[in-house]
Amino acid sequence: MSPSPEITVRAAKAEDVPHIFENIGYWAAQGKMLVRPMQHIFENLRDFFVAEVNGQFAGNAALHILWGDIAEVRGLAVKPGIQANGIGKKLVAACEAEARCIGIPILFAWTYEVRFFEKCGFTLIDKTKELHPRVWSECLRCQFYVGCNENGMVKHLHDVPMPRNLPEPPPAQVPPGIR
Ligand SMILES: CC(C)(COP(=O)(O)OP(=O)(O)OC[C@H]1O[C@@H](n2cnc3c(N)ncnc32)[C@H](O)[C@@H]1OP(=O)(O)O)[C@@H](O)C(=O)NCCC(=O)NCCS
Repeated sequence: MSPSPEITVRAAKAEDVPHIFENIGYWAAQGKMLVRPMQHIFENLRDFFVAEVNGQFAGNAALHILWGDIAEVRGLAVKPGIQANGIGKKLVAACEAEARCIGIPILFAWTYEVRFFEKCGFTLIDKTKELHPRVWSECLRCQFYVGCNENGMVKHLHDVPMPRNLPEPPPAQVPPGIR
């Protein structure tokens, strides 16, 4: 990549889906993230952002709303070979801006990339302690349902107020052995 690449982040379009599918598939095969079927990507396309470097696909991330107070950064992947150029950080920043826009004060992520998320302002949480019940929503369809060793991380957007009329979430369906 050039020394100062022009990185842009935008909402994903239908024509991005094959790139997103391939990119997530690559990293899922390395055990870095959960695989996403193409149908899932189409169905959730409004969650996704795409990064471009000089107009070329460079990565993707999604902001998925879990409840009125919390949204998950998921499906985050920078195209192989162009890591460490600030692309991941810009994708997370786009998710954060979207959460602010919608009025959601807590960001959450399941990840192996603790240091990266710390650089984005997230902090590690203790999985054995009380977590928001909705953060387990993906676990039931995950291949690592039992014996998961991903880290849970949160970022509180202190300038975003809690929604005033927030209903109680449904009880958590927590994978066995986690707590
Ligand atoms: C993890 C990932 C998204 C990071 O994106 P990236 O574009 O390489 O990271 P950035 O260049 O934006 O890095 C932002 C900061 O985090 C740091 N960082 C990034 N990855 C890091 C790592 N593995 N360990 C320590 N620090 C890291 C960078 O040094 C940088 O620090 P700075 O702000 O002080 O300069 C990317 O490497 C990736 O797609 N990995 C494979 C898939 C994956 O693991 N996805 C995460 C699923 S939750």
